[in-house]
Amino acid sequence: MPDLRAGPAILDSEICMNIISHGHNTLSQGEESDPEVVRLRRELAEFPLGRFLLENLGLNGHWTSYVLLYPDKGRATATSSDGQPVTELESWLMDRCPILRATQERFRIFRGLTQSRLRPGMSLAALPAGLMDDLLTLDYTQTPGVTLTAVDLDPETLGEAEQNFRQLNPPVDVTFEQKDAWQLCTEQRWDLLTSNGLNIYVDDDGRCTDFYRSV
Ligand SMILES: C[S@@+](CC[C@H](N)C(=O)[O-])C[C@H]1O[C@@H](n2cnc3c(N)ncnc32)[C@H](O)[C@@H]1O
Repeated sequence: MPDLRAGPAILDSEICMNIISHGHNTLSQGEESDPEVVRLRRELAEFPLGRFLLENLGLNGHWTSYVLLYPDKGRATATSSDGQPVTELESWLMDRCPILRATQERFRIFRGLTQSRLRPGMSLAALPAGLMDDLLTLDYTQTPGVTLTAVDLDPETLGEAEQNFRQLNPPVDVTFEQKDAWQLCTEQRWDLLTSNGLNIYVDDDGRCTDFYRSV
């Protein structure tokens, strides 16, 4: 993995501006005095995922991974990320909120589809990678020689993806690349690319199309 702290290509402030999934906290005018908003903000502040959402208005790789793996890790015991019992609001988010349930289902479906397409020697990428659970949790025992590429703009997320790789230790080669999804500037070719959690942050359909065309 390259030393991401040394990366000369993109300045820190530019990285923050271009990271579209999190780190943007603005309330619209009037929202501060709406009692329902005040109540929700107070309840969100009671658990770590809620506090991240309040501060960032979106999910980074770390918290996306938490949401994706909750059905396997937290749901049976109703335990939050800090080991405390989940509050009513967190339980609603993780067990019933449509967009998060859809994200958990999407994860399960992508894994099944990708697993059935795996062949020896294939080259796969995750963009944006997040912690790369989509690819790192697959079974590679019947498909030797697979290489993976993790592309994400957030250096902290790439660091956690590398830790995730070391922990899960699948028999694959992985490279980690810090890049903006809209500035890939690469000659690399992949047999299969998974992409979750980027287009929901893009209002402009043309910009989404540009992204898909480029990959
Ligand atoms: C909601 S998470 C999804 C992560 C992963 N695909 C998953 O399903 O676990 C969004 C990811 O997009 C990354 N990201 C945000 N803006 C980006 C950009 N302009 N280029 C590349 N990655 C970006 C974030 O750093 C974060 O890891």
